[in-house]
Amino acid sequence: MEQIHIAIDGPAGAGKSTIAKILADKIEVDYLDTGAMYRALTYHIIKCNLDIDKEEIIINEAEKIDINFVNNSIYLNNQNIDNEIRSSQVSKNVSTISKISRVREIMVDKQREIARHKSVIMDGRDIGTVVLPNANVKFYLDASIEIRAQRRYNELANKREVEFEDLKNDIIKRDDMDSKRDVSPLKKANDALIIDTTDKSIDQVVCEMINIISSVKGGDIL
Ligand code: CDP
Ligand code: CDP
Repeated sequence: MEQIHIAIDGPAGAGKSTIAKILADKIEVDYLDTGAMYRALTYHIIKCNLDIDKEEIIINEAEKIDINFVNNSIYLNNQNIDNEIRSSQVSKNVSTISKISRVREIMVDKQREIARHKSVIMDGRDIGTVVLPNANVKFYLDASIEIRAQRRYNELANKREVEFEDLKNDIIKRDDMDSKRDVSPLKKANDALIIDTTDKSIDQVVCEMINIISSVKGGDIL
């Protein structure tokens, strides 16, 4: 198989990372969760008690820290932070950090470097538009806000920790910031295929995407 790049973008809770991981296993390529990288920097800023609104400080930290992936786990300066980056505090603050132009340049450079010599499925917000504009296949996954919030709510082990409406409003706010920022906003690439996952199971979406990937370039990439 020749080198293949697959881009998956879309709003929070659309199913990007769940589906990207399954697809990557099925077609035996690497998976890169670009959102985890912005989350890692956000976690670092919060943990070090730095001011989230001071761009120079955040840029300085983004240039210093080491973000690394091993077997789909994320490491910040050699410490595994898979759980830490999923906290609601990180989710609430990540869009403030990801809108900084220099931060995006640093992250995009790392992402392109990872993809330079290998096949990869990447998910995020700007993969089809900015990171991998020449990807072989581009998907834009979407779903209603109600179902996206419900999926995230279902993931919570202790549902008393957060009200459904609060969680839904946090997602609305984050999607709004992500799609209205000046640099690389969340946007469907012109050549991306939209899949609405609202009423579809994970298996259905995976199946649909595999069929599309298989048919690209006359079926010679799988
Ligand atoms: O999994 P979820 O959809 O909640 O978010 P994520 O993919 O982990 O991304 C977290 C945040 O990182 C997003 O809300 C964006 O602010 C930012 N992000 C981005 O700006 N560009 C990307 N390529 C990926 C994520
Ligand atoms: O990465 P993104 O924020 O787009 O979404 P995700 O974290 O992959 O998916 C959020 C939740 O929705 C996960 O618990 C998935 O298992 C679930 N999901 C689902 O129930 N049905 C789908 N068609 C896709 C995802």
